[in-house]
Amino acid sequence: MAKVQNGFPEHFLWGGATAANQLEGAYDQGGKGLSTADMIAYVPKEKRQGDHAMEISTERISGILAGEVNDRFPKREGVDFYHRYKEDIALFAEMGFKVFRMSINWSRIFPNGDDAEPNEQGLQFYDQVFDELNKYGIEPLVTLSHYETPLGLTQKYNGWASREVIQHYVKYAETVFNRYKNKVKYWLTFNEINVMVFSPYTGGGILSDRLENKLQTVYQALHHQFVASALVTKLGHEIIPGSQIGCMLARMESYPHTCNPADVRKSQQENQMNLFFTDVHARGKYPRYMDRYFAENNIEISREPGDDEILAAHTVDFISFSYYMTLTVSAGPEGEATAGNLLGGIKNPYLQASDWGWQIDPVGLRITLNHLYDRYQKPLFIVENGLGAYDQVEADGSVHDQYRIDYLRQHIAEMKEAIKDGVELLGYTSWGPIDLVSMSTSEMSKRYGFIYVDLDDEGAGTLNRSKKDSFEWYKKVIASNGEIL
Ligand code: BG6
Repeated sequence: MAKVQNGFPEHFLWGGATAANQLEGAYDQGGKGLSTADMIAYVPKEKRQGDHAMEISTERISGILAGEVNDRFPKREGVDFYHRYKEDIALFAEMGFKVFRMSINWSRIFPNGDDAEPNEQGLQFYDQVFDELNKYGIEPLVTLSHYETPLGLTQKYNGWASREVIQHYVKYAETVFNRYKNKVKYWLTFNEINVMVFSPYTGGGILSDRLENKLQTVYQALHHQFVASALVTKLGHEIIPGSQIGCMLARMESYPHTCNPADVRKSQQENQMNLFFTDVHARGKYPRYMDRYFAENNIEISREPGDDEILAAHTVDFISFSYYMTLTVSAGPEGEATAGNLLGGIKNPYLQASDWGWQIDPVGLRITLNHLYDRYQKPLFIVENGLGAYDQVEADGSVHDQYRIDYLRQHIAEMKEAIKDGVELLGYTSWGPIDLVSMSTSEMSKRYGFIYVDLDDEGAGTLNRSKKDSFEWYKKVIASNGEIL
């Protein structure tokens, strides 16, 4: 009889996750070119329409570049990791991090996306970051593309809508694989690849005025990303023996609103639409349920000879995903609407919600882990999870974020259960171990960190770092390998 795994495996990778465009700043330093993220303005809450005012047109880009737009662009400044990475990594090391998830900003390496030669200064910056991590024995987990397509590729090709972009991405990946082959073993090809469906600009650098037939453009662009991801998986394995290359999904487990079969079917369909992405990455082919979806929506994917073989031959080594919430769906008009990460749903009466209306569901994480493992039998990696909340700084500078500790404790406890259920889980990187700019709203006040950063929504602050209560708590979690929660 095989042994039941009680507790986290010995070499479990505990850490935190970030993205260059929300963290680094220095958008115009070290030879970096502009990226799509540098064009996203902060919109104060009262003027915001939904979470995702992130679709951008050619005209808007021209206006921004011509200096005609009087907005703030917080992702250009991030929280200045570019200049403070030593201090930040020392704090991660103090918490005992085993892994640090970060992304390489593509436009630091190829400023226009299609340059003949890479930018040496950009390459040097990541050399220094990886060396610093290595000093503390922290393993880097690197996302190649996390919502930061070089703006040049958007302007020239309408981003991933064009097949042309595949070769530039492959060249970029080949460059960084060769450069960092002795420093980085874990790679992710695209952050939350499914986000393209909800925000083509964010996921694919596609402009809103060049999106006549949205579904057609989006699924074609996704095909380009699937092929690019498989080509890069192949390259990574060739250049870095022993490397582990994964995909990354914004996982949204869907629940039926009631046991009415119509609701159950609706939720089954939602799950398929979400798992389509990992199906292609992990099984190496398009699932048959998509044939019907494509036919009914007049979507025709144009493929080149060899594409199917590439997808089949270079599947991922592991599946990573972000987990913030579950979705509840109904076949009819029942139910009260609720907010969510990219996609809402209806209110689940059994769940509480965050300050931003995202429903909190720790058991849903165990369900998600079991569901993904049942389906693929590949190792899983939770590369984002956490609570975006308003923090209150006390007069003595402390932040008592018990709500964040409670959230994380409950989720980690469910991970432990899933491991006992038989799930193979490589690691856990909570989102934003240090406060950083919000992806969806570009706010600073939506904080996830164990480390507080003195910066507000208007861009004012010293940028000083300080420890929240959750800092000491997470340190104990890691030191006890998840035994002390
Ligand atoms: C994920 C993204 O969707 O959610 C991150 O990969 C993002 O980039 C995170 O920051 C949390 O979302 P938000 O909008 O609260 O920053």
